[in-house]
Amino acid sequence: MTELHFLTAGESHGKALSVIVEGIPAGLPLTEEFIAHDLRRRQGGYGRSKRQQIEEDRAEILGGVRHGLTLGSPIALLIANRVWEEWSEAMQVESCERETEKVTRLRPGHADLAGAMKYGFDDARNVLERASARETAARVAAGAVCRRLLEEFGVAVRSHTVSIGEVIARVEGEPNWAAVEKSPVRCADPEVSQRMVRAIDAADESGDSLGGVFEVWATGVPIGLGSHVQWNRRLDGLLAQAAMSIHAVKGVEIGGGFALAATPGSRAHDIILPLEQWGGRPWRRATNRAGGLEGGITNGEPVIVRGALKPISTLAKPLPSVDLHTAEEVQAHYERSDVCVVPAAGVIGEAMVAIVLVGAMLEKFGGDSLAETERNYEGYVKTIGPRGRPE
Ligand SMILES: Cc1cc2nc3c(=O)[nH]c(=O)nc-3n(C[C@H](O)[C@H](O)[C@H](O)COP(=O)(O)O)c2cc1C
Repeated sequence: MTELHFLTAGESHGKALSVIVEGIPAGLPLTEEFIAHDLRRRQGGYGRSKRQQIEEDRAEILGGVRHGLTLGSPIALLIANRVWEEWSEAMQVESCERETEKVTRLRPGHADLAGAMKYGFDDARNVLERASARETAARVAAGAVCRRLLEEFGVAVRSHTVSIGEVIARVEGEPNWAAVEKSPVRCADPEVSQRMVRAIDAADESGDSLGGVFEVWATGVPIGLGSHVQWNRRLDGLLAQAAMSIHAVKGVEIGGGFALAATPGSRAHDIILPLEQWGGRPWRRATNRAGGLEGGITNGEPVIVRGALKPISTLAKPLPSVDLHTAEEVQAHYERSDVCVVPAAGVIGEAMVAIVLVGAMLEKFGGDSLAETERNYEGYVKTIGPRGRPE
């Protein structure tokens, strides 16, 4: 069985982030430039800190690719942290002669307190360096590799911003993706984009932060990925876990999500259309409230996953807290911080969805080489269609 695995390592202000992606078939064209495109998209979005401007992320391919094609071996990627020089002593691997400043003013909303208790640290930096969403640069690099594979099968994974704070975009059908990519907040509606920008400015001016909702669309996904037969093979569950694992995501919806709970059954499900209305794609639906998944299996409609982010926890006007060493009242530690990251979280959501979909594609179609995966895919696709009339 071909299985996809990926593992990231590295601290936010360490020397580099690294990621190994295993299970990608041989023969897939892959370049550093392709991965760089998604890394740039993750760094964009109005509301992010200056670090994103200082640092242009680029993943170096260290293994698993030769002459532009994957080898079927683990793909190793390295993203250098360009701020490393400033942090080389505070984050050095070797023991340090000089005492470095400890982070003890615990930040509510972060892993600082629980992580320090769990791992027995007297310095919250030992937790926050890895708990930081900087790690998602490595996920986006892994996601780009998966996106490259999905492209070979006509699957596209995109995202847009549904809301920032109280500013909510009206979403009707598939967004205009070109408009999304042009928007500073990744929202297709230019007027709503402007209101989102103003809301971020207002939060920034008052030392506050904002959350919001992103939505990921995967189109061209074949019918039949995932399975109803076991709880941990249900693709909706795997997608929810992947989206929820993104820093600050506190809610996940598939398709109509929570709104379906208040909708009568007659208006909540997706009618299956007869053959003459199929157009280019088999087994079409009149609507896609299920977000492309029924019984944990893709049904051929676009897969739609939403993630709701809480507002950023580190505030320029810090929250009251306590000191890790004395448990006395202090103001939380402040370190250069984003004000709103919903647009970036959408790009990370794309990566997580791409990774889960590739896992499901390889589970279904397998293959050590791209040609073999394609043969298996095409052989299966031929079998999709009406099963004939009963005698
Ligand atoms: C792209 C991205 C960037 C983030 N940047 C920051 C930041 O600059 N400051 C901050 O306090 N939290 C930031 N967060 C959120 C924290 O990483 C997150 O809230 C924290 O690790 C606690 O995890 P939890 O919210 O999932 O419980 C960011 C999240 C994402 C997705």
